[in-house]
Amino acid sequence: MDVSDNYNKYRDLFIGVDNRVQLASGNMAIPIGFDNGATTPSFKSSYRALSRGLATYGAVARGTGQKSEITTQKYEEARQIILDFFNVGNDPRYTVVFGKTTTECMNLLANVLVKNKDDKILTTRMEHHANDLPWRYSATVEYVDVDKMGRISLDSIEKNLKENNGNIKYVTITGASNVTGYINKIHEIAKICHKYNAKIIVDGAQLVAHKEINMKGNNNGEEIDFLVFSAHKTYAPYGTGVIVGLKESLCNLTPFLKGGACVKAVTDYDVIWDAPPALHEAGSPNSLGAIATGRALQQLKQIGFDNIYEHEMMLKEFIIAEMKKIDRVILYGDNEHIDDRLGIIVFNIDGEDFKKIGKRYADEMAIALRTGKFCSHPYVNRLMGISDEIACETAYNNKPADGMIRASLGLYNTMEEARAFIAYTKYLVSTL
Ligand SMILES: Cc1ncc(COP(=O)(O)O)c(C=O)c1O
Repeated sequence: MDVSDNYNKYRDLFIGVDNRVQLASGNMAIPIGFDNGATTPSFKSSYRALSRGLATYGAVARGTGQKSEITTQKYEEARQIILDFFNVGNDPRYTVVFGKTTTECMNLLANVLVKNKDDKILTTRMEHHANDLPWRYSATVEYVDVDKMGRISLDSIEKNLKENNGNIKYVTITGASNVTGYINKIHEIAKICHKYNAKIIVDGAQLVAHKEINMKGNNNGEEIDFLVFSAHKTYAPYGTGVIVGLKESLCNLTPFLKGGACVKAVTDYDVIWDAPPALHEAGSPNSLGAIATGRALQQLKQIGFDNIYEHEMMLKEFIIAEMKKIDRVILYGDNEHIDDRLGIIVFNIDGEDFKKIGKRYADEMAIALRTGKFCSHPYVNRLMGISDEIACETAYNNKPADGMIRASLGLYNTMEEARAFIAYTKYLVSTL
């Protein structure tokens, strides 16, 4: 593959990626953005869609003015673009609910899909807190554990569903881990869930920008019932979170957020709720964020997921192979069989403080990484062999916490950046 081709073709689609930042020395450098698991820069096209939206900006579904009508139409078009993107555009069973982030959307689902604390939910020990804590507070949660390498096995999911005798209402699982990048087989898991009468919710925060998701699956029973993601991780950082899900399950219930725009009628003592999606979008929506999100997804499709995957996998394979050769680098997860991993690499330098190391990457080379436990403490604790007792004792006594360093790749990253990252890692280790 011609790497320089890729460099030009994709990088130019993004805003700000070549804007210099100041190093600790005072010199200026073009940053290396390896923190895409946290958030991504904007596509130029999604920003342009937002700008165009500003020119005709008005109130959604309320005003009688022309701008209000145009904005409402664009907002509804964004819903359709998103449904189409996940291949459920022609399926009236699905709807799109706009929110703020994956976190907010998961809290919404945990509040509306669960009737009471006796409802049983199955999740995993691989999850981001956004797909764990909301359920802990609304339902009875069971967990499927990860294996030694940090993967989830389908057998363990099935075993749990079987043991629960059809009493698990929802299985909520990440599409891909924000720590190891492992991609879960969501359609095979969906099939197992449906066999035991459970519905599946997929946390797509890490997956959506990197791999095509066809919510229908390829065979009957493989459908994804709910998918949640954040637009700021899909190159549209304008404050939008999305739920794509089954309308029927979102009907006839009390919404998480209550207020205007989600009701048909309110009397002194009664409320007659509207139908979804309006039911779950109380208040004035972030229409511009929704429009930009739709445009970002269209852009991803135009680039093509085969191209995206190929480019990011090439960078991942290079970085993992080179990191393995560097003395004192500890890599977490399975670094031998890496086909089922997104471009996320987690590591430490033996005996060194992860925070100080992360800061040196930024200070000396403008390499943006993430350090810590990535809001996935139970999972990181398992990968690092940290017991709950130690984790709690450390937190209670305000001792320095354990953690890792994460490099997470995006479409605009280049082989040149990957090489610079490896060269600097070698240099850094040599100075310790
Ligand atoms: C897998 C996963 N789920 C959920 C979230 C939460 O996303 P947000 O901060 O946009 O709510 C993240 C963020 O890193 C994530 O990686």
